[in-house]
Amino acid sequence: MDLIIKNGTIVTAKDMFKSDIGVADGKIVAMGTDLKDDNAKVVDASGKLILPGAIDAHTHLAMPFGGTISADSYEAGTRAAVCGGVTTVFDYPMQRKGHGIVETVEGRKQMAEKEACCDFAFHCCITDLNDGAILDEFKSAVDYGVSSFKCFFVYKKEGMMVDDATFVKILMKAKESGAITNLHAENPDMIDLRIAQYLKEGKTDAWYHYMSRPEFVAAEADKRAVHWAVNADAPLYIVHMSDKEGLEAAVDAKMKGSKVFIETCPQYLEFTCDVYKRPDGRNFVCSPPMKGEESRQALWQAIKNGAIDTVATDHCPFQQSEKDWGLNDFTKIPNGCAGVENLYPYMLGAATDGIISYSRAVELCSTNPAKIFGCTDKGSLAIGKDADIVVYDPKKDFTISVSNMHSDYDHTIWEGKTVHGYPVQTYVRGKLVFDDGDYVGKAGDGKFVKCAPVNF
Ligand code: URP
Ligand code: ZN
Ligand code: ZN
Repeated sequence: MDLIIKNGTIVTAKDMFKSDIGVADGKIVAMGTDLKDDNAKVVDASGKLILPGAIDAHTHLAMPFGGTISADSYEAGTRAAVCGGVTTVFDYPMQRKGHGIVETVEGRKQMAEKEACCDFAFHCCITDLNDGAILDEFKSAVDYGVSSFKCFFVYKKEGMMVDDATFVKILMKAKESGAITNLHAENPDMIDLRIAQYLKEGKTDAWYHYMSRPEFVAAEADKRAVHWAVNADAPLYIVHMSDKEGLEAAVDAKMKGSKVFIETCPQYLEFTCDVYKRPDGRNFVCSPPMKGEESRQALWQAIKNGAIDTVATDHCPFQQSEKDWGLNDFTKIPNGCAGVENLYPYMLGAATDGIISYSRAVELCSTNPAKIFGCTDKGSLAIGKDADIVVYDPKKDFTISVSNMHSDYDHTIWEGKTVHGYPVQTYVRGKLVFDDGDYVGKAGDGKFVKCAPVNF
């Protein structure tokens, strides 16, 4: 064996137990008490928890968006990822009119192969069916290793929005091809109508970002999406769920047997729309926006009772100077916030605080995303799985600041937040890449994760 991590407590989505863990050639090859191998490096993890690396199923790295490019390159975003215990990220390449899926993803894959510090996979955003040719390509995309396609009900002027007919065609063809459809659900016409009204009235500060897309604007689109998925009998994954009414509709469909999966993000669990009243409210601008306390509570309830399937970050940071474009006009603020380095510490911190169990945090951040998106070698600590391992110290408090993050952005919405417990080591396929506060890996450590076809 190359590595033995001894005396720790293993956490899986189901249970926690004392065990050593042995690694060879990037895989977990042994689990049990008293593992020995004179050739192996031995790490003593007494008093620590041993977790599967998190899978951040929602990031936007080097994404052209909002008049600029999101601030984290593949290198910076994945460097930050491993320093927070994330060992695989899903990115969202954007297919555009006239271009194919594999062609689009291949370009991003080549960039990521040079830069990535952790493993990476792709959901491909579909913006135009190219007269049906894109639907015909779904099967080849699945064979290539992309088994999830994303639709936006918003971003009309950015050329990213799909209409209902296109969405239903994608839902059905994805199902037939062994893929799942991801969706950003908000109602674009209501947003445009409300924005025009606020600008006319001279209401231009960040609060009106929230007011232009409040709860009922997201809820209509959530319900519409669920309606089409149920009637097409096709799997649907709703990204960044933020509102109570939409959540309830999705949970209801799930309870009745439909394959509706729900993702939320730490920012919707931590903050409410009140952040948009702050002087730095523009820094919190993301879509969908944070909602009211009732929605925040409903999301926590669904985290606790098992109704939410995954927590991911929607990591899409922009620099302060870019957020400042919207000082006098909220519509000019690039949408998105940082979070990839905070995901696992935040959810595990909720476990340290007794709000959820450690197993539930692992399920939400690692095991479920692996299952839903066909990452067959990841998401759990078991013999044969990739040795994506996080050593977590439940006694180490950590106060988040931009100065102790490992990314390229220059501010964070998480500034000043203290989490209880923190990762002390991260291994990507057996290689140590984060050690006691320091990044110790290198660009190019990450490999493409070929997602298996999914069949629900
Ligand atoms: O504000 C956000 N979320 N920006 C990234 C794109 C998206 O909608 O997920
Ligand atoms: Zn989105
Ligand atoms: Zn997103």
